[in-house]
Amino acid sequence: MAHADKVMIVTGATNGIGLITARELAATGARVVLVGRSARRLADTVALITQQTPAANLDTIQADLSSQADVLAVADTIKQRYDHIDVLLNNAGAFFTEHQLSVDGIEMTWALNHMAPFLLTTTLLDLLRASAPARIITVASAAHQGATINFDDLEGKTRFSGWKAYAQSKLANIMFTYELANRLLDSDVTANCLHPGFVATGFAQNNPGWFAKAFAVMQRYMAITPEKGAETSIFLARSDSVATTTGRYFDKCKPVPSSKISYDVTTQRRLWQQSLNMVK
Ligand SMILES: NC(=O)c1ccc[n+]([C@@H]2O[C@H](COP(=O)([O-])OP(=O)(O)OC[C@H]3O[C@@H](n4cnc5c(N)ncnc54)[C@H](OP(=O)(O)O)[C@@H]3O)[C@@H](O)[C@H]2O)c1
Repeated sequence: MAHADKVMIVTGATNGIGLITARELAATGARVVLVGRSARRLADTVALITQQTPAANLDTIQADLSSQADVLAVADTIKQRYDHIDVLLNNAGAFFTEHQLSVDGIEMTWALNHMAPFLLTTTLLDLLRASAPARIITVASAAHQGATINFDDLEGKTRFSGWKAYAQSKLANIMFTYELANRLLDSDVTANCLHPGFVATGFAQNNPGWFAKAFAVMQRYMAITPEKGAETSIFLARSDSVATTTGRYFDKCKPVPSSKISYDVTTQRRLWQQSLNMVK
């Protein structure tokens, strides 16, 4: 992939896997659009990447992606500023131990991890199609193994488990990718997703006290570096070897099977419809 004039959008680019991914994509000469929720952290990230790659071609968009109005504003800004998109990388995501509601009244895990990539991608789909070849990449997780989509209570209203909510949202990332890839078969736009590994990032640090501390200790002993964790995202964004690969789940830069239920086409379609119904 030649990188001059490429436009690559990375959500959650102000920390962890997204920051490293944005940095490495910027080093290829692409224009990288960093989407983040804090103006200060965006400015810090621009400074950091520019320090390492002085010629980095960066743009920023501030948005709280758990808010649907903000997601739509991001899509509008992108459409105003760019006539094409080469890569849309849905990376932002988080884990919440407690039941919390987004500004739209949707459970946070579902709002941020699933609804945001769903809404951003589908709102940008015409531009992505017009930009073909283009790539849509979503950072999922091996945490989806064993999860189901609980259509009777998607938001854990009756009984909330942070882990179940997270695992369900990551299964939704994969099922969304598979359904999206099917819908894009008539185009030269690919849709793939990935597991980055267990990565030492700011992940889970938004949670209170003991949990954040215990998680950080686990990361210290068991997790890979953000540089290693970003490898599959970077590979999917820029490798010629996956230019036409679509509808696959990757781990360590290789396509691997996801859970059995993730391939269920009826559930994929139901999830798509249910997600549309949840757009405010
Ligand atoms: N770390 C792992 O072991 C692991 C494993 C499997 C999958 N993943 C997935 O990898 C992705 C990246 O996570 P990470 O590990 O790099 O975590 P991280 O270090 O916490 O980074 C998450 C990024 O998302 C941003 N973000 C969080 N909430 C946001 C919101 N409401 N609006 C906009 N941006 C928001 C964060 O912004 P701030 O800088 O402002 O916090 C940060 O830039 C996630 O989708 C996660 O589910 C991670």
